[in-house]
Amino acid sequence: MSFLSQLEMGLGTWAWGKGVVWGFGKGYGDKDLRETFNASLEAGIRLIDTAEVYGDGESEVFVGRFLKERPEEKVYVATKFAPFPYRFRASVLLKALQSSLKRLGLPCVDLYQMHWPSPPRSIKAWMEPLAQAVKEGLAKEVGVSNFSRGQMLRAQEALASHGVALSSTQMQYSLVRRGNEFNGLLDECKKTGVRFIAYSPLGMGMLSGKYSPQNPPSGPRRLFYWGQLGRIQALVAKLREMGEARGGKTVNQVALNWVLCKGGLPIPGAKNAVQARENAGAMGWRLNEAEVAELDGASRHFRG
Ligand SMILES: NC(=O)c1ccc[n+]([C@@H]2O[C@H](COP(=O)([O-])OP(=O)(O)OC[C@H]3O[C@@H](n4cnc5c(N)ncnc54)[C@H](OP(=O)(O)O)[C@@H]3O)[C@@H](O)[C@H]2O)c1
Repeated sequence: MSFLSQLEMGLGTWAWGKGVVWGFGKGYGDKDLRETFNASLEAGIRLIDTAEVYGDGESEVFVGRFLKERPEEKVYVATKFAPFPYRFRASVLLKALQSSLKRLGLPCVDLYQMHWPSPPRSIKAWMEPLAQAVKEGLAKEVGVSNFSRGQMLRAQEALASHGVALSSTQMQYSLVRRGNEFNGLLDECKKTGVRFIAYSPLGMGMLSGKYSPQNPPSGPRRLFYWGQLGRIQALVAKLREMGEARGGKTVNQVALNWVLCKGGLPIPGAKNAVQARENAGAMGWRLNEAEVAELDGASRHFRG
């Protein structure tokens, strides 16, 4: 059985390191990331999600450094391979994995994921080195990300032909991005035993309640939710009301708990210890069916 079946939630690290989207170095830096990591572990988070492309490798370096400082802790590490079009040969996957391991300071990762599908190269061709990563002991388990339902099933079949199971698929999923629920992918995962890892489960921060049409996030993030911030406010008000009725759960905690109730494994990103602690407070309890149905109704327009 995959270690992922034992986990409720993880920590996302896309914002760890430089890059155009998150503004690393402006308002948060190395010290905040160390505190984020430590606070997450102390709050019971055991899965860290990173990728070779996050901060151009810096995110993996941060994760590796912080892991080394907490050698006594069992932490599961997931990272990703980026199939850039210029990466012609399938053998590049194992080289990229070795580079990730070096940055992480680990002999193997718990989960190695293909970050996105890469047509015209066939899924079958990429699954061969992905399976090889498990056989060579460089990855304990493997997954895919941003694959459609059909692509995921093809990956599962190709891996199975090498005797390796597809453990997970990592897809965007939140109250403001419900497409992978409506298109049947989430149900397919439940049917086939593939763990559905939900990325951007807080809508890249839009569900936190701190952004509005009058106060949008800076940088390119506002483009991802262009024209939607107004509609998101009514949903945030509903989350706030529900959290208060639940004895002080926050907007973010209720939003993450809804993902848990749907069967997803959310990996919210956090830039500081306060965010990390708050997000971890989504674990250990569940909204009831009526509350989930109410949020389903309030978010029914967000089908993308
Ligand atoms: N496979 C893929 O293609 C893919 C794509 C995207 C993400 N991911 C993974 O999924 C992870 C999570 O997604 P994400 O980082 O895009 O978005 P997210 O988890 O929906 O939002 C994270 C952002 O929301 C804000 N936030 C988080 N907790 C908060 C709190 N308690 N209170 C107030 N604000 C809070 C922070 O930014 P501000 O403070 O700046 O608002 C934080 O960086 C990533 O880190 C990455 O590991 C994977």
